[in-house]
Amino acid sequence: MIRQAIPSDVPALVRNRLAQQQELYSIDNLDRDDRQRLEEQLFGYFAWACTNDNVLFLVDQEDSAIAAVCGFSIEHQPPQIEDNGEYAYVCDAYTAPRFRCQGRMGRLVRAGTAQMRKRGVSALYFDSISKDMIRLCQNLGFKQRHDYYSLVL
Ligand SMILES: CC(C)(COP(=O)(O)OP(=O)(O)OC[C@H]1O[C@@H](n2cnc3c(N)ncnc32)[C@H](O)[C@@H]1OP(=O)(O)O)[C@@H](O)C(=O)NCCC(=O)NCCS
Repeated sequence: MIRQAIPSDVPALVRNRLAQQQELYSIDNLDRDDRQRLEEQLFGYFAWACTNDNVLFLVDQEDSAIAAVCGFSIEHQPPQIEDNGEYAYVCDAYTAPRFRCQGRMGRLVRAGTAQMRKRGVSALYFDSISKDMIRLCQNLGFKQRHDYYSLVL
């Protein structure tokens, strides 16, 4: 069942994010202090995100387990000729290993896309080091459009 995340999901969202980061960056075990720092930041972030209108986290719940999560973070940029400047960054996508290849992330991204469209968002975008996520999104119609320049602070 796909639904919007609520504040009582925060501990599960934190566990999901830690598992995602460890898998993406091939880290077996985070250093204890690093893990504690990240956990604290994540608790704060998800508590904020679950009550903020500019952020939508969708979860796919299977019995009592959270099988998959995908977030949509809305940005309000100045409108331009091409669109209204409302974009959503797709973030924190993760399907727990035992629930993969069942179409869960595809359904979450589609459900989020429909909700973003209703909110007037004109484009979704993401950046990922995950080839699986890139392929999945390309299959859903995402096209590579821009190369971004960034300055790490
Ligand atoms: C990338 C990731 C989110 C995909 O999640 P998922 O729930 O397995 O995704 P889906 O099942 O919707 O689609 C995955 C594949 O399964 C296929 N599939 C969908 N339903 C299927 C089914 N019923 N039976 C078999 N295969 C199926 C899809 O066509 C897709 O195929 P493709 O890889 O050839 O494109 C997941 O592998 C993951 O969490 N990876 C680690 C973290 C990560 O990369 N996160 C993204 C960070 S941006």
